Amino acid sequence: MEKINAVITGVGGYVPDYILTNEEISRMVDTTDEWIMTRIGVKERRILNEEGLGTSYMARKAAKQLMKKTNSNPDDIDAIIVATTTPDYHFPSTASILCDKLGLKNAYAFDMQAACCGFLYALETAASMICSGRHKKVIVVGADKMSSMVDYSDRATCPIFGDGAAAVMLEPTTEEYGVLDSILRTDGKGLPFLHMKAGGSVCPPSYFSVDNRMHYIHQEGRTVFKYAVSNMSNVTAEIAERNNLNKDNINWIVPHQANLRIIDAVAQRLEVPMENVMINIEKYGNTSAGTLPLCLWDFESKLKKGDNMIFTAFGAGFTWGAVYVKWGYDGCEK
Ligand code: UT7
Repeated sequence: MEKINAVITGVGGYVPDYILTNEEISRMVDTTDEWIMTRIGVKERRILNEEGLGTSYMARKAAKQLMKKTNSNPDDIDAIIVATTTPDYHFPSTASILCDKLGLKNAYAFDMQAACCGFLYALETAASMICSGRHKKVIVVGADKMSSMVDYSDRATCPIFGDGAAAVMLEPTTEEYGVLDSILRTDGKGLPFLHMKAGGSVCPPSYFSVDNRMHYIHQEGRTVFKYAVSNMSNVTAEIAERNNLNKDNINWIVPHQANLRIIDAVAQRLEVPMENVMINIEKYGNTSAGTLPLCLWDFESKLKKGDNMIFTAFGAGFTWGAVYVKWGYDGCEK
C-alpha cells in the first residue's frame, strides 16, 4: 500500500471587529504603547465583546470560510478537532457545538487542551487520523477568546492577549506534501508559572474564588519567557536538523505569536531572515491556539506549493513542539 501523507488543503479564519489599541490599554493600566511595542510587539488586538458570544462563534466563522474555500460538503467531513483553552462551556465540547452549527452529520468532534500549543497537537492528531487511511477530511480549528480570562487590571498580562480563530482542512495525498514530521513535548513543570487558579475541579468557582480574582490568567512572565525561548529554539533546531532543513531551504517559520522577542530568538537560532518568518502579533496579539492558523490565514496568498515550513509553539503545561510541513498548494487570496 502506498504511504499516505496528510496535506493542508485550505485555511479559513476569523477575527472579531473590535480593536483594542495600546492607547486604550494605557487608559486601563499603568503602561505605554512604547513599553508594549518594545517588550511584547503588540500594537492592537481583536476582542469579541458582544455579550453571549464565545469561542464557538469565532471557530464557526473560520470553519465556514474554510469549508467554502475548499468546496467541502458538510456530509464529507469525518472529524473536527477544536484546540482551545477557552471553550464555550466546561462541557459539552466546543467542537460538538460546531457540528450542529456547521451541519456536520457524519463527523465526530472533540476539543483538545494544550494551551498555546493546542493547534500543533491537534494538527499532529488529525494528520495521524488521515495517515491511518480511515479519515478523508478532518478540520482542525485553533480558537480562543482570551479576553474571557484576561485580568484587565494586570498590566503584565493584559497587553499580550487577543481573540481569534482559524482552521485548516487536512486530506490524504500520496505525494510528499503535508505534515511530514513532528516533535511534541509536555513536561508538566509549568503549572506554577502559568495557570488559572480556580474554576476547575481542584478549586470550583465560589464567592471566595471570585472575590479573590482567581478566574484570570496567572503568568510569571519572565520564567515563561525563558522556557519559551529555549524550548522553542531547541525543538525547531532539532526538527530542522533531522529533516536536512536550514536557512537556505526553510521558506517559512510559523511561530506562536506570544512575544516578538521570542520569535526573534527562534529565527536567530536557525539564522532564518525575518522576511521568512510569519509575524502578525502586532495586529492580533497572542490568540493562544489561534496564532498559528491565523498566520497561515494572513500569509496564505504568499505561499507556494513545496514551501518548507516549520511551525513551533510553546504554552502552559508546559507544552511545546515543532512540526515540519511541506505546503501543498499555491496561495490564494482570503
Ligand atoms: O503564550 C503562552 C506563553 N507565554 C509567553 O510566552 C509569555 C512570555 N513572557 C513574556 O512575554 C514577557 O515576560 C512579558 C511580556 C509577560 C513581560 O515582559 P518582561 O520584559 O519579561 O517584563 P518583566 O515581567 O520582567 O517586568 C519588567 C518590568 C517590571 O518592573 P520592575 O519590577 O523592573 O520595576 C514590571 O513591573 O516591567 C514592568 N511591567 C510593565 N511596565 C509597563 C510589566 N508590565 C508592564 C507594562 N507596562 N504593561
